[in-house]
Amino acid sequence: MSITTGDFRSKITASTLLEKKQRQETITCLTAYDYSSARLVDEAGIDMVLVGDSLGMVMLGYENTLPVTMQEMLHHTRAARRGVKHAFFIADMPFASYHVSQREALRNAARFIKDAGAEAVKIEGGEKRARLVERMVEAEIPVVGHIGLTPQSVHAMGGYKVQGKTLKAIEQLMHDALALERSGACCVVLEGIPREVAAMITHELEIPTIGIGAGPECDGQVLVFHDLLGLTFAPPAKFVRRYADLGSIISNAVQAFKDDVKSGGYPSDAESYHLPTETLSSLQAIAERKRAVQL
Ligand code: KIV
Repeated sequence: MSITTGDFRSKITASTLLEKKQRQETITCLTAYDYSSARLVDEAGIDMVLVGDSLGMVMLGYENTLPVTMQEMLHHTRAARRGVKHAFFIADMPFASYHVSQREALRNAARFIKDAGAEAVKIEGGEKRARLVERMVEAEIPVVGHIGLTPQSVHAMGGYKVQGKTLKAIEQLMHDALALERSGACCVVLEGIPREVAAMITHELEIPTIGIGAGPECDGQVLVFHDLLGLTFAPPAKFVRRYADLGSIISNAVQAFKDDVKSGGYPSDAESYHLPTETLSSLQAIAERKRAVQL
């Protein structure tokens, strides 16, 4: 049974994503971190909206995703939630919110669902997270896995490096993907791995794979909203395709506003409010009487 929303587009759920894989229909996913971007993404018909912890870098100006807190993630998840009607809505669990103990991880995951309206949480790591994924699924919390280049492991990996390049690493990635599937993950993000490896994993898994820097054979593709729109400051990674240069458009608009204000060109009379004629006449009469008394 598919649940239809007010405007008759189906609500995307974890089951819809599975059906899409079975029908070989490509899945689309974008990040969004606030109401307006989430609404634009949702209204464009994107299947999955992810409140990624990449918001730490693109929205909050951190150097990497590690400092992002639960409070920050919950705040942005609540805002984006209000913009999403159709897409499957996922929130990233930030670094250290699921690493300390299973009990704490479950409690934090539940906050995303209960307090912030997420429909699934995403956690990084494969085989080593399998038991945790099982516990979350037992607690009715849908989980999206994330393997390959996992940004929360930046120090452990020694930088942002493409993963899965040796036979041993490929074998481990395959174990990771299968362990997540067995544990009940509803789909898995494959980041920064060779396309051939992503294709093998995608073929082996029954659940959908969502690629980012993992080639075209994945069941779906995800990009960071700000990368797609040219709203980032660092040079983009090889896999990023910029569909717009909003950074330049915004800079030019801000510059034009500044120039208009400084030259007196903004606001014009048409952009100003006016008094009703009667009030204006009374005001002028009062001013004239005051002037007469002063003389
Ligand atoms: O944080 C994020 O935006 C992500 C995606 C890039 C998959 O994890």
